[in-house]
Amino acid sequence: MQNFTFYNPTKLIFGKEQLSQLQTEIPQYGKKVLVVYGGGSIKRNGLYDRVMAQLNEIGAEVFELSGVEPNPRISTVRKGVEICKNEGIDFLLAVGGGSVIDCTKAIAAGAKYDGDAWDIVIKKAFASEALPFGTVLTLAATGSEMNAGSVITNWETNEKYGWGSPVTFPKFSILDPVNTFTVPRDQTVYGIVDMMSHVLEHYFHLEENTDYQDRMCESLLITIMEAAPKLLGDLESYEHRAAILYSGTMALNGILNMGYRGDWATHNIEHAVSAVYDIPHGGGLSILFPNWMKHNLNVKPERFKQLAVRVFNVNPAGKTDEEAALEGIEKLREFWNSIGAPSRLAHYDIDDSKIELMADKATVNGEFGNFAKLKHDDVVSIYRASL
Ligand code: NZQ
Ligand code: ZN
Repeated sequence: MQNFTFYNPTKLIFGKEQLSQLQTEIPQYGKKVLVVYGGGSIKRNGLYDRVMAQLNEIGAEVFELSGVEPNPRISTVRKGVEICKNEGIDFLLAVGGGSVIDCTKAIAAGAKYDGDAWDIVIKKAFASEALPFGTVLTLAATGSEMNAGSVITNWETNEKYGWGSPVTFPKFSILDPVNTFTVPRDQTVYGIVDMMSHVLEHYFHLEENTDYQDRMCESLLITIMEAAPKLLGDLESYEHRAAILYSGTMALNGILNMGYRGDWATHNIEHAVSAVYDIPHGGGLSILFPNWMKHNLNVKPERFKQLAVRVFNVNPAGKTDEEAALEGIEKLREFWNSIGAPSRLAHYDIDDSKIELMADKATVNGEFGNFAKLKHDDVVSIYRASL
């Protein structure tokens, strides 16, 4: 295990009917509140009205930025920054999924920066200050509600990058499973794949002496895989929505990965696909992750075998590590197939015409991945295996 410092200041408010806590949380930061939301799901399911009623109760002066895209764009971040600067916004409230939260993080940092917010995303500038913000989460997937990361797309240049700073943790996040009842089946599936992929990204590392961390990762994967089919059989089950919502937060809030660095190459490879084709992040991951695993199986077969045996109940008797590992990868693929996640790029009408371009984008900063270093050729082979 490596040395580490764990820091996570986000106040997590979980459960039914917690929205009224906005009334105690927000006034600490000021009166002028910019509410950031997406394409309208919160208007259709009534959450917008309930949030506005809370803001009304505390006499907040409310500004709005709507229309944040899935795979949020820098153009929308710029609009938000302009509102913050022109109106002297005190506090941002993100009401939505990971895209809305990520966009809000970039606005919060951009509002305290003199140049263009894209500088922060491409790490030309570091966000040392940000406006305070909170979130009302509506979709279980990214973990953005309790981490400092944000992923922003520049649609003009087809670039999509993750960035973060200690100042971009939400001050609080309200997680009411009921607010996720209306997430459609496909987005629910993408969220499940995304949170599982976060655990898998952690899991593939080269550090020794991480038994507890390994077992936390394995138990979270098992928990998600048990809850997922039940939830998909009853999308308005509080119990199963709660299990998945909590799992998504735990998968990427820093608790699982103390003392080691996970791989994270598959996320980079997926971001390059969604930068060019604008596909859902979880859909891209379900296609790519098993192929990343097969490509890197020989780096440390015993690690893949451990996953296969402990999470996918593969019986290792009489099998080489590689054989057991491959069986585990197949079981992951079968599980994702069983919940309706895609397994081929063709699902999104993606052929081989832009593979080189996507690989260029994935390798723009050179080789990447902490478990296995991937070069341009490796990325091309993983895309080819995924066609
Ligand atoms: O825009 P609206 O109308 O709200 O609809 C959204 C959107 O179309 C809909 N939705 C959300 N909550 C709903 C709902 N529909 C009905 N009822 C609800 N309660 O779902 C669609 C997808 O929403 P989005 O926020 O895009 O999904 P997700 O949470 O999966 O976020 C994806 C983005 O997060 C990034 C991804 O790359 C992608 O850009 N990621 C962010 C991470 C982070 N900050 O830590 C880590 C992740 O690995 C990921 O890269
Ligand atoms: Zn992800």
